[in-house]
Formats: sequence, C-alpha cells, structure tokens
Amino acid sequence: MAPTGTASSTSLPAEAQALEKYFVLDKARLNEIVAGFRREFEDGLKNFGRDTAMIPSYCLSVPNGTEIGTFLALDLGGTNLRVCEVKLTGNHDFTVKQQKYKVSEALKHGDAKDLFNYIAESVDAFMTEVGTENGEDEAVHLGFTFSFPVEQTALDKGKLLTWTKGFACKNAIGHDVVKLLQDALDAKHIKVKCSALVNDTVGTLLSRSYQHGPALIGAIFGTGTNGAYIDRVETIEKLGKDAIAESLKGGPDAGEFMVINTEWGAIDNGRHVLPVSPFDNKLDRESINPRKQAFEKMVSGMYLGEIVRNMLLYLIDFSVLFDGHSSSIMNTHYGLDTALVSEVEDAKSDDEVLKVLTKDLGMAKEVIKPADVQIFKWACRMVSSRAASLSACALAAVVLHTGQAQSKGADDTVDIGMDGRCVGFTWLALDFGLINRFLVFSHSVAEFLPHFEERMRAALRLILGDEGEKRIKMGLAKDGSGVGAALCALQAKKAEDASV
Ligand code: GLC
Repeated sequence: MAPTGTASSTSLPAEAQALEKYFVLDKARLNEIVAGFRREFEDGLKNFGRDTAMIPSYCLSVPNGTEIGTFLALDLGGTNLRVCEVKLTGNHDFTVKQQKYKVSEALKHGDAKDLFNYIAESVDAFMTEVGTENGEDEAVHLGFTFSFPVEQTALDKGKLLTWTKGFACKNAIGHDVVKLLQDALDAKHIKVKCSALVNDTVGTLLSRSYQHGPALIGAIFGTGTNGAYIDRVETIEKLGKDAIAESLKGGPDAGEFMVINTEWGAIDNGRHVLPVSPFDNKLDRESINPRKQAFEKMVSGMYLGEIVRNMLLYLIDFSVLFDGHSSSIMNTHYGLDTALVSEVEDAKSDDEVLKVLTKDLGMAKEVIKPADVQIFKWACRMVSSRAASLSACALAAVVLHTGQAQSKGADDTVDIGMDGRCVGFTWLALDFGLINRFLVFSHSVAEFLPHFEERMRAALRLILGDEGEKRIKMGLAKDGSGVGAALCALQAKKAEDASV
C-alpha cells in the first residue's frame, strides 16, 4: 500500500529528496507509532507523573441532550479569552452570548495573579455589559475551560502541571487553578462560583454528546492538540482500588466510565517513535518549552509554519533554493504563519504561491525560479501531510485502546464532525458496551489545512484497514469549550444538590 504523504518528485534537489524520510510514513512506520502511543496511554493510566498524563477528569457521564440550565463559561487556552453565558435548552440545543478578550503577551508571561485578575475583570465586564439571567443574590455557576495540563483531583480542583502553547506565567505551576480564579473573583466581590474545571477536549466530547448523542472521544487540533475519551474507571489503575470502588457506587453520575484527558500533545517527549527531523529539533530547541509537547509540535497550528520555515532556510543555506537568498521575514522566528501553509496548499495556481513568497514572506521576485515555487509547495505538503498522518495515529491509538477497531454490526459507524466557528470538529460514532458512543475531534488545522481530512483518512486506512476507516463519518458539533463547560457546571450543580 502507498505510504502517506506521497511526494518524491525526481525534479527535487537531492538535498530536499533526502528529507522525505522524515515526512513520508509507510504502514509499518505508522503502526510502530500507534504502538508507541498505546504504550504511553497505558503507562499514563497506571502511573501519575507521566508526560502523557492521562488525567482523570472526574466527569463520569456524558449528557443526553435533555439537560437544562443557564451557566457562565470561561474559555482560556486558545487565541483569546472568551466569556460566555450558555443557555442549555434541553432539546440538544443551546444559545450562547459571548465576548472575547485579548490576552496580551505580557499577561501570558507575567505573574499568574495578574492573569487571573484580568480573567476576573473580564467576567465582571461581561456580566455588566451583557448581563446574566441569574437572580440578584445567587452566585452564578461557572464552568472553566482551562486548556492546559491540569492534574485534577475533583471536578472543581486541579493543579497546573505545566504550561503549553506559549503561556509561561510565574507562580501557577503546582497551584490549583480553580482557587486562583475563585480568589481573584472573590477579591473583586464578583458573585460567581467556579464549580467545574474542564479541558477543551473534555468540553468537546460533552458538547458533541449533548448535541448528537453520547460520544467516545473529543479531540482538538488547533493552536495545540489533545484528545479526551471515555474509558472504564477500572482501567485507570493509578486511582487505586478504593477510589475506583467509590466512583462505581453512589452519586447521581456514578458509574463505570470516566472521561480521560490524555494530554497526547506530550506523547513521545522521549522521541522513541516519532519521525523527528532536524527541523523539529531546531523548533523545539528554540521554543519556550524545550523537550516538551513533542507530538503537539509536529501537529498543531502553532508550529507547522515554523517547521516549513526551518526546512526552507536549510535549503537556502545549501543554495538549492532561491539561489541562496532569504528575506528578513523568512529569517524571523515564527515569521511564516501556518495560515500561509494553508494558502499554499489551497492555491489554484503557481502565481498564487509566488504571491505568498513575495507579498507575505518578502522574497525578492528576481531570486525566485519556477523550481523554487515547486520546492515551497513540496515543503508545505510534507509538513501538513505528516501532521495529518500523525493525527490519525493518535485517533487510531485511542480506537484500538478502547477495543473499537472492529465493527460490531452493520450500523456500527464512526462519525467525524467539524466545528465551523474557531475550531473544526470531527466525530466518530462507535459501539462501546451497552450504548453507542461517539468520537469527536475539533480542529482548526483540519478546518484550515486543505486535504487534512483526506490525508488523515489515508493514514487511518493503513492503520485500521479499509473497513475500520470506512466506519468513520463526518459531522458537525458546535462550541465545545463553551457548551462543554456549561454541561460540566451542571454536573457539579447536580452533585452539590444531591449532597444537601
Ligand atoms: C495543549 C494543552 C491541552 C489542550 C490542547 C488543545 O496541548 O496542553 O490541555 O487540550 O492544547 O487546546
């Protein structure tokens, strides 16, 4: 079977051709990667303190679409801070009022207190400007979508393990982020109770389940990448027998299952199975979190443009591209945005690609030969197809881990959906024990990178076989971070009501 990321044009210079081994992955290589991912999943479920943290979310059930209530939701971890009021109307539907607030680079790198004060001020501004539906005296329940690795110990408690995606605030790692937020809200006398802490992938999974039926996996391929899925509680061995027994009895949502936030962005930080190239190593070495988020740095929107830039500079240094010329944009760290990779991949003619080189990347027209345009297109294709193949590896690893690789009947489909707003979505429907659950993943890379889905499918076919891949259907889910946070706040409220 053909490897994914087909390329090998013999007109490429030898220096470029020699790089294809890092990007074109055959079936054996894909299977090796999937096996490595599965080993890390299993290890993370047995032990605390692993990079692939396999974090128990304490979210024990997925919604069924009848849930009702109005909640505040906060969403931090993508490009902006978002404050929303989500009204769940109980018929798989909802309405959202929202406001976005910019998080400056200074806040991302300053003291955590300043960041959380800013968040509290934004919540206050939202409540003043947009208004909320809760009564005067009652504290409004808020679900906090905090899209970073947090070791959760309850639905409303969790310590930040590490920052990712360009955040590096001081005095946050090791601290309970719900407490940091609640203290900031209380200090400003804002009547809001943060009752649930949610990763965006968990939110995606819940939101999809609310809108379309129970889901198995929620995944994000946006600024960062990560996935959450439903596993049997007894598989999470690191929780210990007592905790497992406890979660299997009592409480409104007690049961056999728990949503696990895999934090798969950190898979293979030890670089045992990933096809790491010198360009990935350079990106990592120059990043603010070296030797971390190895998988994320090969897959997500924050990094793909930078890998392409590193490849182009290498070929420029060999004088096999642009006759050895560069530009100040091309020489600038993160000067080549991933959006440009999408533009090149989507270009209808070489002239459009030429425009990206001259207008967006500041290359002088005189130094660009027709062959250079082809090399630029090739580099974009190599990097984006590898991202798609590796994304397929992560999904396939979860499907195999949960025993969902084999179809159990004619209607046993796997649906994939896309979120059309700021992240794209995909979702898979799988038979999982008694009920059908679904796989969801969201993806700005999927949405904005042309061919992403088709390339991912090609890789899935190699890993799961034609039948396995065919069961995957595409669909749409909306606002994982907002609706998911509201649904989690509802779960927390139910648990609170049940305990009084
Ligand atoms: C990063 C974060 C993770 C989040 C993902 C997608 O990988 O560590 O928590 O889910 O980005 O936003």
